[in-house]
Amino acid sequence: MSPLLALGLLLAGLCSVHCLPENVVVKEQDRRARVDDHALASSNTDFAFSLYKQLALKNPNKNVIFSPLSVSIALAFLSLGARGSTLTEILEGLKFNLTEIQETEIHRGFQHLLQTLNRPSNQLQLSVGNAMFVQEGLKLLDKFIEDAHVLYSSEAFSTNFGDPEAAKSLINDYVKNKTQGKIEELFKFLSPETVLVLVNYIYFKAQWKTRFDPKHTEQAEFHVSKNETVEVPMMTLDLKTPYFRDKELGCTLVELTYTSNDSALFILPDEGKMQDLEAKLIPETLRRWRESLHPSRIHELYLPKFSIKSNYELNDILFQLGIKKIFTDAADLSGVTGTRNLVVSQVVHGAALDVDEEGTEGAAATGISIEKLAFQRTTVRFDRPFLIAIVLKDTQSIIFLGKVTNPTQA
Ligand SMILES: *[C@@H]1O[C@H](CO)[C@@H](O)[C@H](O)[C@H]1NC(C)=O
Ligand SMILES: *[C@@H]1O[C@H](CO)[C@@H](O)[C@H](O)[C@H]1NC(C)=O
Ligand SMILES: *[C@@H]1O[C@H](CO)[C@@H](O)[C@H](O)[C@H]1NC(C)=O
Ligand SMILES: *[C@@H]1O[C@H](CO)[C@@H](O)[C@H](O)[C@H]1NC(C)=O
Repeated sequence: MSPLLALGLLLAGLCSVHCLPENVVVKEQDRRARVDDHALASSNTDFAFSLYKQLALKNPNKNVIFSPLSVSIALAFLSLGARGSTLTEILEGLKFNLTEIQETEIHRGFQHLLQTLNRPSNQLQLSVGNAMFVQEGLKLLDKFIEDAHVLYSSEAFSTNFGDPEAAKSLINDYVKNKTQGKIEELFKFLSPETVLVLVNYIYFKAQWKTRFDPKHTEQAEFHVSKNETVEVPMMTLDLKTPYFRDKELGCTLVELTYTSNDSALFILPDEGKMQDLEAKLIPETLRRWRESLHPSRIHELYLPKFSIKSNYELNDILFQLGIKKIFTDAADLSGVTGTRNLVVSQVVHGAALDVDEEGTEGAAATGISIEKLAFQRTTVRFDRPFLIAIVLKDTQSIIFLGKVTNPTQA
């Protein structure tokens, strides 16, 4: 497997922990929010690693890139409309322990997180937002509209899904705009039965504190596997930065800091150790790494310049992670309209990440499309041997009885 694989979750996964400011004097209300932030970050990290493992498993030998934070926010947003066990499944799937944290605290946590992430900064471009596209004439519950607006700062757009191509363009163009053109086609397909689409987007751009000099970037070998080698533009730098050699797990960590003090953690497993390392990706490992990273002089750091992209449909993977009911006719999304007749048809995710001499640019979006449950459609296909009996109504006499094993035979 390519050593680039593990990069996927770093940026957005760590940002949820890291973008929170430290050492500021806070009011009581903020202090309570901080407690929620911590519980939220810890659950989000757990979810990030679980999702990573599923994506890596499903995409062997491919680059993996996604924004766990975007998926978490989109599903939490969806949970505003869920009730009963459908709701429990989503929140537990997002790794919240519902004996320790209440639903209202979770939403308040996301509300606070969104406010924190969107705080203007001159060192960092970061924007995170939500939107919903609502079928014209669909009556949403006032409570859902208000919570979507207040807790998830969601914009709302009236949409005619009867023209699915136009609706798809509207949504994809919105996402493209919010991600500075990086996520071009979030939805590949939308059905005319769609009545509601929820969207989350993230855009991130930051500069390295210590930049690489493009003059020193040279073509070099990258070992995709034992047998396959490719040529990549390899950047190089001599710097002092947090470093840790993890003997226990057999990997080397380098943390590169942005001018905003956020950072990217690069994890290089020893040769042949990628799978072992992936299995050990749990919040506890991340905590141990955080404590162990110490500034060290690295005389020669070689890092490829790269640009990777992905597009996933997450239905199956979320099902694996225990979020099942939303996709079936047992779904209870009655918190959206008051009626229990909605079902999730797709959860799609797109992400892109560029790392170069200057810094990092990343974008991601998650879309959830919701349809009205179709009336039960029954299909019976006589496409194998069958019996036939023709019965006269008045006398109940069987006038013909037969077996058709091959309709093309005389
Ligand atoms: C949830 O929290 C309770 C109380 O802290 C704990 O006993 C339980 O094991 C936790 N459940 C899970 C699935 O972690
Ligand atoms: C996004 O939309 C805004 C407002 O309509 C526009 O000013 C801006 O140029 C657009 N950005 C991109 C990248 O398309
Ligand atoms: C790599 O090469 C070895 C020996 O040349 C071969 O046995 C093995 O199947 C190759 N592996 C892949 C993934 O191509
Ligand atoms: C980053 O951290 C350094 C050292 O703690 C501090 O001096 C600097 O102001 C911070 N920069 C930002 C943008 O927060």
